[in-house]
Amino acid sequence: MNGLLTFLSQFIFLVRSGNMASFFRRRIAEKLSRTLQQSEDALIPALAAVPVMKKQQAADFKLSINTLRDNGILPSSGDIQLQAEDLASQLKRDSMVEDIFTGRGLVMFKVNPKLLAQKLLEPFGKGEDDKFGLNSELFNSLKKGTTLVEYSSPNIAKKFHAGHLRSTIIGNFIANLKQTLGNDVIRMNYLGDWGMQFGLLGAGFGQFGCVEKLKQNPLQHLFEVYVQVNKEAEHNEDIKQAARDFFRQLEQHESHAVSLWQQFRDITVEEYQHVYKRLGVQFDVYSGESFHQDGAQEVVQQLRSRGLLKIAENGTGVVDLSADGDMSSVSTLLRSDGTTLYITRDIAAAVDRKEKYSFDEMIYVTDKSQQNHFYQLFQILLAMGHSWADRCRHVSFGLVQGMKTRTGDVVFLEDVLDEARTRMLHNMSQSNTTKEMDDPEDTAEKVGISALIVQDFKGPLQSDYKFDWDRMLQAQGDTGVFLQYTHARLCSLKRRNEGLEAATFDPSLLPERTSVTILQHLLRYDEVLYQSAQDLQPKHLVNFLLKLCHLIASAHRELPVKGSPQDVAQARLRLFSGACSVLANGMKILGITPVDKM
Ligand code: ARG
Repeated sequence: MNGLLTFLSQFIFLVRSGNMASFFRRRIAEKLSRTLQQSEDALIPALAAVPVMKKQQAADFKLSINTLRDNGILPSSGDIQLQAEDLASQLKRDSMVEDIFTGRGLVMFKVNPKLLAQKLLEPFGKGEDDKFGLNSELFNSLKKGTTLVEYSSPNIAKKFHAGHLRSTIIGNFIANLKQTLGNDVIRMNYLGDWGMQFGLLGAGFGQFGCVEKLKQNPLQHLFEVYVQVNKEAEHNEDIKQAARDFFRQLEQHESHAVSLWQQFRDITVEEYQHVYKRLGVQFDVYSGESFHQDGAQEVVQQLRSRGLLKIAENGTGVVDLSADGDMSSVSTLLRSDGTTLYITRDIAAAVDRKEKYSFDEMIYVTDKSQQNHFYQLFQILLAMGHSWADRCRHVSFGLVQGMKTRTGDVVFLEDVLDEARTRMLHNMSQSNTTKEMDDPEDTAEKVGISALIVQDFKGPLQSDYKFDWDRMLQAQGDTGVFLQYTHARLCSLKRRNEGLEAATFDPSLLPERTSVTILQHLLRYDEVLYQSAQDLQPKHLVNFLLKLCHLIASAHRELPVKGSPQDVAQARLRLFSGACSVLANGMKILGITPVDKM
């Protein structure tokens, strides 16, 4: 009876915990929970897969004694190593956990290698490739719900700078990650579609604009007009006055001004959509500053009635953000002429979004020069009684130096994409490994974009970095090209062995160090996603995938499929195809479209 129960509970366990890292973490936690008299859930945070290094790792999982101490599970006095040894000596080995030993302040676990291969590679035979690692209990502690991510947010008629490109790809990554982890995601673009630049554009268009050119190349033409009228305005008072007049007409919703503005905006959005599509980025909502004119005035009224708006000596309306209430730190919300500012519109926009989308969290992605802006924004929202401002987060990033194309400084996003494609196409034509392709331009585009993304995501987002075409496009280094190349190579291996793939495989046929290392690395996938979800940094995932590609490169050398006995070939093929799926899944979260051939 007892035996049957054990059998049943094990069976249920297998079904419930699905597969992979989760499975092993649970089993080890279960073992620990009996010895430590703690719930499994309390122990799981202290367990992690052992990262693979140059030297082969004898253990697959490690338990941190420090974490157990921090969480009050073990006494925080006493020698850590002794605690580890004491605990290890009480734990029993079994058919699943074959070995238990200690490292510095750690208890190490080695699981049965056959089971490791079986559990990890099982999902790939069942068409569950894109779910790999996603039903991990690590994600239980993450908040689910609706996440609004605002990113890209360029300004109409102004230059699209490197910061906008960074915001676009980082925001897209965050949205993809949240979505993968089960959140409902709203992707929002908040255009700089209001302000004095429209006064100038409106005033200047009659003089310098051309409807034909506007249709042909809208972004370029609007920018040209903007530059020209700005220059003119430097010495021409009439133009300046005309700009002010136009902007006032716009603020008063005069139909001629509004229709011209609308045209500029529509054309711009359409053009951007085209470029975003090339980048593999899309938005659910194109909002913008222009939507929040009236709301901004309401915000001012509310702040007034709550006594939060002070009139400064120069006649501007400010909110005091100083700790002592001595106006040593203020945020300006109202100009002396009664018009509102960027931050006023942001307050109105945040309130409006909360009402419309009832998000559980909101994330803004901009460069770090706006850190203070968002700090003030959240402070003011809290002061107004919007406690949900606690769940708003600004993800900031550093500057990119030297983003140039062959023709000079970058003005348009499209120029960067064109340049990436051209350079990649050139490199592909020079390489003797390049395959015949139906659409080499399309492949070059996708690979070029992945190079841009990986260069950007490799380090901490806060760091500045130097844009470097040659380095980012290297086929061998830690680049997006290397990711794509590895993916394409795996796809080609799968294509060449199509008939060989089988529903089952023998997990004992993957005993080589190279195979085990790949499996050990795959064990970390859910931890890496979890880490990225915590700090919203793409570097964990990028570095995980780059490492995976290096391991795959060794496997290509050491584990031939062709010429091996059929059962060995099948097991290896399963390993390669599993690695291929994880690589593709990870790339997609980063915002990269994997290519099958290059
Ligand atoms: N358009 C702004 C800029 O280019 C970025 C907008 C960021 N988002 C916001 N809600 N303020 O600097």
